Amino acid sequence: MSPEVPPGGRISGFRLARLLGEWRRRGARQGSSDLAAAIRLLVLDGRLPAGTRLPAERELADALPVSRTMITAALDQLREEGLVASRRGAGSWISLPTGALGIVPDTPLVGHSMVDFARAAPPALPGLLAAFDSVRRHLPEHLADHGYYEHGHPDLRRAIAARYEARGLPTSPDQIVVTSGAQHALALVLRLFTGPGDRVLVEQPSYPNALDAIKAVSAIPVPVAMTDTGWDLPGIAAALRQAAPRLAYLVVDFHNPTAHRMDEAGRSELADTARRARTPLVIDETVCELDLDGDPLDGPPPMAKFAEDLVITLGSASKSHWGGLRIGWIRATPEVVHRLISTRAALDLGSAVVDQLVLAELLANPDPALRERRAGLAGQRDVLMAGLREHCPTWNFRRPAGGLSLWCELDAPVSTRIAVVAQNHGIRLAPGSRFGAHGGFERWLRLPFVQPPDVLRDAARRLGLVAAAVAGTGVAAEEDLAVPVA
Ligand SMILES: Cc1ncc(COP(=O)(O)O)c(C=O)c1O
Repeated sequence: MSPEVPPGGRISGFRLARLLGEWRRRGARQGSSDLAAAIRLLVLDGRLPAGTRLPAERELADALPVSRTMITAALDQLREEGLVASRRGAGSWISLPTGALGIVPDTPLVGHSMVDFARAAPPALPGLLAAFDSVRRHLPEHLADHGYYEHGHPDLRRAIAARYEARGLPTSPDQIVVTSGAQHALALVLRLFTGPGDRVLVEQPSYPNALDAIKAVSAIPVPVAMTDTGWDLPGIAAALRQAAPRLAYLVVDFHNPTAHRMDEAGRSELADTARRARTPLVIDETVCELDLDGDPLDGPPPMAKFAEDLVITLGSASKSHWGGLRIGWIRATPEVVHRLISTRAALDLGSAVVDQLVLAELLANPDPALRERRAGLAGQRDVLMAGLREHCPTWNFRRPAGGLSLWCELDAPVSTRIAVVAQNHGIRLAPGSRFGAHGGFERWLRLPFVQPPDVLRDAARRLGLVAAAVAGTGVAAEEDLAVPVA
């Protein structure tokens, strides 16, 4: 994830207050440890990188607003942990202590193995090893080659085009650019289409790394709120008219994080709207294969079918096959493909060939393995839902028809507090604020079901303890926060 502020940059009190969200426990009299814990969380998830200069104590006290004494006490605590350094005349900044303090996100806490609920990424498909073996056997045929494929290896481009054909979208390999993941694909598209100050329409909530990518090119996300049932298409039409964004970035298949899917009528209306505004649509299909209640080949036609000339589709093998392959792609018109390749040359000269060949091998007959993947995830979804109903009965969620996570509505605006306390129970969480273009979503939490059932059952139990601690009805939260981080 790209950081909210460049290392060495200064964050204003106002901006830090927004990132902190609802950091304070309701009714807490002594808030300095809450504040320290919330700042620690921002450091842990990378939003406050080392070197970030903090606002002056008085400025932060005004922005939050709390007493200056509380700010001083919180900073003292972080200084003791080595997370903040200060020098007279130079102010305070985020620093990373070496070793001991366990601030590396994957470090297990005392008495727990760490469960990573911040990442909605499943392990590799079982067939991956066999595909590697097969590629290894045929590798000598490829080694005489130079190995540079700016567009992607022809075998993989053909295989990806064939998958679009199977989904009812005629596609030529010339329309495909293979990238190192969908995030890389989005970065390339943004680099080609946007400049500093340009606006990009996004859903609200949206995928955090996409929001970061938009901010990283100094473009401005223009959020349009999702409704309880999906997309506010009149709202999108109004935003396209009024804000004249350069692009719209949308996840119409099992939206991350809400898991909504746009139906065929919605896609047709969205295409008409985009055509009227002449706004290119960047459609992220990273999770489109993960239809947990049906078959992706029977789902609504891909968005590009409705507006071939305006839609730039992003795809990825990360969720369907394995994130570690780091293979994604862009499907666009040959003209856009040509421009993307020119843009790419300054950044990289193609993605790893062996990994591309492995994916080409897997895509030669993708359906049996993907069916197994979907069945496994559907079972895990049901286990997590049952566990949450038992241990967190006041949290609400819809049963997602696809994707990798539940979008859970909490009974109070305590998402950040839950994420802070959860770390002490061995669970890494992304608080709801990560999914808003400008923070917010303190009543919401994304909970992935990518772990095996026994881990999910145990995580639901631990989340019940966290929820009780934060609500003040279970283990005292203060005691929780005192658990040493080792
Ligand atoms: C909607 C969406 N887009 C892009 C990505 C990143 O994909 P990749 O691993 O291919 O870069 C993710 C991963 O979580 C995602 O959910």
